[in-house]
Amino acid sequence: MTSVEAEQSRLDHIRSFETGCEVKDGFFSMEEFDFLRAQMKASYEDKGTLHYRNREAYSSQSDIMSMPRGQVQKEVIAFLKDKLKDELPGTFEIDFTFHKNYHPYSLHTDAGYGEEGVLLKQGIIPLEFYPEDKQVYTVIMHQRHYLSSGFHPKSIQLVTPQKDLSPINRVYEYKGEVDMPNIEFLKYWEDTPMKRSIMKGFTVHTPFLWKKRSMAIWDRSMIHCSSDFKVAGAEYKIGLMWIARGL
Ligand SMILES: [Fe+2]
Repeated sequence: MTSVEAEQSRLDHIRSFETGCEVKDGFFSMEEFDFLRAQMKASYEDKGTLHYRNREAYSSQSDIMSMPRGQVQKEVIAFLKDKLKDELPGTFEIDFTFHKNYHPYSLHTDAGYGEEGVLLKQGIIPLEFYPEDKQVYTVIMHQRHYLSSGFHPKSIQLVTPQKDLSPINRVYEYKGEVDMPNIEFLKYWEDTPMKRSIMKGFTVHTPFLWKKRSMAIWDRSMIHCSSDFKVAGAEYKIGLMWIARGL
């Protein structure tokens, strides 16, 4: 077996666990939702857990991730493992981070896998956005990639599916130079040439509208991004992002 064949066979194995994306409205009781919000607040009060993104560019509105340790980490992981046991059969490990974002995430994956990493799911649990009457989405695409990567026009060119690319470097189901239909594009993103260029070749699988007590769960290979929530009038959003891997 050549190395490309070995890589393909490993990807085929991983892909056999894929199921797509599912939105679960009302998944949490109000009590559970309040528990997660309280943990999030405790986590942000512990400055040692904080990591900043866009710090130089946007000093007063940096995106802030909180990666809790200690009691908060322990309690949330125990809660998620129990709550997700019917969604993620078998034994699994789970990691999570709180994200407070003033700036939308562009297309990316949170993929990555090890030799045994076959249970590749992730999810977002919306905890807060302001103002509450605005529409905030996480948009999950049909296109897939098996490395943890960001995508912009230049890198998309590099990973356009071609015969000579190794399987892991391909964007699966990528549509190349095909524009995203207006009806989808204009619902979620700002109408700029740059944004249109980024979205070229991608198609929407699931738009997840943020609501209290809801969750979206999808395969970690699925490329996803934020809607332009600032353009929709929302100032910031806070969510719990979890990723699961098999043991
Ligand atoms: Fe992500």
